[in-house]
Order: sequence, then C-alpha cells, then structure tokens
Amino acid sequence: MTTRSTTEAPGAGAGPRKAAARTLRDAGAALAQLARGLGTAVPALAVLLLVVLAAVTAPLGVGLLLAAVLPRALHALAGRERARLTRVGPEVVPPDPPPVRLRQALTDPTTRRELRWLVRHATLGLVLGLLGVYLPIAAVRDTLFPLLWPVAPADATSTSLGFGTARTWPEAASVTLLGLGWTAIILGLGPALARLQANPGRRLLSAGPGTDLSLRVAELTATRAAALDAHATELRRIERSLHDGAQNRVVAVTVLLGAARRMVARDPAGADELLERAQSAAEQALAELRGVARSILPPVLSDRGLAGAVSGLAADCPVPCRTEVDVPERCAASVEATAYFVVAEALTNIAKHSGARAAVVTARSRGGRLRLRIEDDGRGGAHEDGGSGLAGIRRRVAAHDGTLTLASPPGGPTLLEVDLPCGS
Ligand SMILES: Nc1ncnc2c1ncn2[C@@H]1O[C@H](COP(=O)(O)OP(=O)(O)OP(=O)(O)O)[C@@H](O)[C@H]1O
Ligand SMILES: [Mg+2]
Repeated sequence: MTTRSTTEAPGAGAGPRKAAARTLRDAGAALAQLARGLGTAVPALAVLLLVVLAAVTAPLGVGLLLAAVLPRALHALAGRERARLTRVGPEVVPPDPPPVRLRQALTDPTTRRELRWLVRHATLGLVLGLLGVYLPIAAVRDTLFPLLWPVAPADATSTSLGFGTARTWPEAASVTLLGLGWTAIILGLGPALARLQANPGRRLLSAGPGTDLSLRVAELTATRAAALDAHATELRRIERSLHDGAQNRVVAVTVLLGAARRMVARDPAGADELLERAQSAAEQALAELRGVARSILPPVLSDRGLAGAVSGLAADCPVPCRTEVDVPERCAASVEATAYFVVAEALTNIAKHSGARAAVVTARSRGGRLRLRIEDDGRGGAHEDGGSGLAGIRRRVAAHDGTLTLASPPGGPTLLEVDLPCGS
C-alpha cells in the first residue's frame, strides 16, 4: 500500500501540472497566432477599402484603373494567408490559379470566395488580431496595477477598460481582479479566438470540393517517388561504402591475423610485423565506418546546429568561403540534414569544377522556410546532367516539397538557391 501511494503521488501531481503547462502553451500559441493574423488583416483592410473606393469611383473611370490591379493584390494576399495558416495547422490547399483580368475575375468563383474572406478578415480578423495584442498587455497592466498605483497621478484611469479611477488601496487592489479576469479569458478563450480568426481562411481560401486536385496529386506522387528513389540511392551508397571500404579492410585484418597465427611459432618477428599491419588495417576500417556513419546523419548537426555545421563545411573548403547564417528557427532534423548535404555538395563542386576565387554561403530561416544560397565567382557552366551530385540534391530537396534553382551561365557566376519548408 505504502509503495503504491508513494509511486502514485508524483503521477497524480504530474497530471494537473501537465494540463496546466499545456493550457499555458496553447494560450501563448493562440495569442501569437492572433497577433500574426494582423500581418494579413491590416493589408486586408487596405485592399477592402480600395475595393470599395474602386466600386464607388467606377462611374468616373478612376475606379476602373484601380480595379485592374485589385485582383492581383487580392490573390497575393490570399496566398500569404494560405501560407500563414499552413504554418500553424493543416495545409490550406490552394485552388487553381484564379484569373487576374478584371472581367474574368468578376465571375470567377475563387475570386468571389477570396472577396468573402477579405471582408471577414479585414473586420472580424482584424479585431481578433488586435485582441491578441491587447489582452496580454491589459492582463499584465491590471494585475500589477496595485504596484503602479502609489506612483500614478491621482486622477489617472485605473483600468485598461478606459474608465474608473482608484482612490483607495482596496479600489486599487480590486483592479487586480480585472487583470485576473483578462488572464482567465486568455487561458479559456484564446485558442477558440485563434480558431475563429483562422476559420474564414481555412473555409474560403482552400480548394473547393469541386476543384480538380489531380495536378496536386500528380505532384505529390512524383515527389513521393523521388523520395523513395533518393532513399534507395542513399542505401546503395551506404552499402557500396561499407562493401568497398570497411568490409575490405576487415577481410584484410582477418587474413593478416590468420597469417600471423601460423607464423608466430616459427618467426615471431615476422608475425609481429603482420600484427602491426592488421592493427593499421583495423584502424582504417574504423575510420571508414566513422565516415559512413557521418555521411548518414552528420553528428555536427546535432552538436553545433546548422550554423556550426555550415561554418565547418566552409572552413574545410579549399576556396575561400564567407558564410552568413541566420537560422533562429530550428528545422526538422531531416530538413537540416538535407540543407547540410546541399551545402556540402555545392562546396565540393566549387572546389572541383568552378576555378572560383571566392564563394559565399547564405542560410536563413524565416516564417517556416529555410533558404540557402551558394554562390561562386567561377567559370559557370554547371548542369545537372554532368554527374549525380546536383541531380541527387534536387531529388532530396523535392522529397521535402522544396525547390532548387541553379543559375550557372558559361563564364559564371554560379548561383544555387534552395528553399525548404522547415517542418516537413
Ligand atoms: N560550381 C560549379 N562551377 C562550374 N561547374 C560546375 C559547378 N558545379 C557543377 N559544375 C559542373 O556540373 C557538372 C555536374 O555536377 P554534379 O555535382 O552533378 O556532378 P559531379 O560533381 O561531376 O559528380 P558527383 O557530384 O556525382 O561526384 C559537373 O561535372 C561540372 O562540370
Ligand atoms: Mg558534384
């Protein structure tokens, strides 16, 4: 009995503690999501005002000029909202690209759905976004008000509601209750408010039920095949490295050990020499195995992160290489490994083929995307058909739904750009 009660005690406390931590985390994430919604809600209000202005001034002709650029602005903004919503939840699959010409846009169902989203996001979405900023400020201010009260001017407004003046200590202390009320609203309603702000976008900006998704399915099938292909190539590479490297050395070790055993009685000095060769072969096998292990998932990534790993690659590059790495957001381990192999292959190519005097590697992670740029001032002319390196990294990048762009005109310079989603 005693044992049970002592083992249950921490578990019983851990449940509520975990639940409280989850509530706090969810509320924090909801506030951040609401506030980030302002990034599209404020431009949405501007576009909505322009739409109204265009409609009102259309008879004068001015509105028609404005209306010509509005579909483009609306589609761009809707695209930004889709990307934002995809970062914080399930993917918002875009419909087929809508027309940008005014006449077709007016009758296009996608544009109409985007317009309905615009009205909701520029009003309700904006108010909810402002609440996401206002609520935490009000909660902190009102909860801590009794500390500020002694130094506040006598007739200053005491609550963040904009009315009420505390004249006595009990009145000042009661403002704390309001602050706790704000906190309760944040904890209890925060996630629901974030959902309310996201719902119009999720409903109106995703491909409607009648949309033809065959293109997207074909794209996903192709990238899945590429991922499996990349995986098989990787396994073949590992198998080859083990076969040609470590395995051969271990065979040499066994042969040398056998010969040494046979020789030990009649020629101890010769046996000793064979043993020494066996030891050096075993050491080489170990080094080969380390190399293979490193090439599967470089330990430097987990030890020093992408920034350290890229700096390490640049330092080892025979061509002088400058790095600009700004990756405050950590990405999934598989994405960082792909980024590492992209930089490794690009720098190896620069050293092998470019004849460059200098190279620059830039890595940035922002808004859920990791962007890499590897540039050299060499002779150019890089092409994917020339070997397996560039084609291999293109397959790796495609497997993450990322993109690879190579610009390498004859005479140079060569620029390789890779864009990867962080979380895949
Ligand atoms: N930075 C560069 N500058 C100039 N030429 C390049 C550069 N990178 C690649 N190339 C050219 O593009 C070709 C293809 O490169 P890729 O990396 O695919 O193959 P590789 O380096 O020859 O062989 P592998 O990478 O399979 O060992 C190279 O053979 C080379 O001619
Ligand atoms: Mg190469």
